[in-house]
Amino acid sequence: MAISIRRATLEDAAGISAVWEAIVAEKVYSAVDRAFTPDEERAYLSGLSPRESCYVADHAGRIVGFQSLDRWSSFMTSSLHVGQLGTFVLKEYRGTGIGARLAATTFDFARAHAYEKLVVFVRGSNSAAQAFYKSLGFFECGRLARQVEIDGVYDDEVLMELVL
Ligand SMILES: CC(C)(COP(=O)(O)OP(=O)(O)OC[C@H]1O[C@@H](n2cnc3c(N)ncnc32)[C@H](O)[C@@H]1OP(=O)(O)O)[C@@H](O)C(=O)NCCC(=O)NCCS
Repeated sequence: MAISIRRATLEDAAGISAVWEAIVAEKVYSAVDRAFTPDEERAYLSGLSPRESCYVADHAGRIVGFQSLDRWSSFMTSSLHVGQLGTFVLKEYRGTGIGARLAATTFDFARAHAYEKLVVFVRGSNSAAQAFYKSLGFFECGRLARQVEIDGVYDDEVLMELVL
């Protein structure tokens, strides 16, 4: 069964929440340390502006990954050209090209909606995600030391950016 990349709908809230549950349980890939509930995810999706997107990877009706594009700021017009990304794929589906397919779709959306650059925060120890974003053209442009603490373990947050 092929994996399709499509725009998230409100019906995907539970599936996206389940991906968050898996990522949060792994503890090492995100600063997010509590999964968004289906209700929270539904509120997030319904609150997206016309210039924001969430694309999902759908495998036979199961959400196996997603990528969100949010405005850098919801109130400053000075950074209207800047978007912020997040990408999450279930463990058993990683390394199969889903992240790259999500990014190709999101980048098309971003260009069509007047974004000029994209920014992402990645945990300092998350070398796989840093390699993923570098493969898309991102480069490291800053680092927040000991920005994350989960179960007594500290980690940096690396800031990466891409000029579209
Ligand atoms: C990071 C993540 C989103 C990448 O998605 P993915 O579907 O696994 O990535 P892809 O298979 O599309 O890989 C695209 C490219 O990224 C790079 N890449 C991906 N995983 C990598 C890894 N583990 N090590 C090194 N490079 C990697 C490669 O260049 C790869 O291209 P190639 O397959 O031609 O070598 C995914 O691994 C994930 O969800 N990880 C856990 C959550 C996370 O860390 N999210 C990022 C938080 S900001």
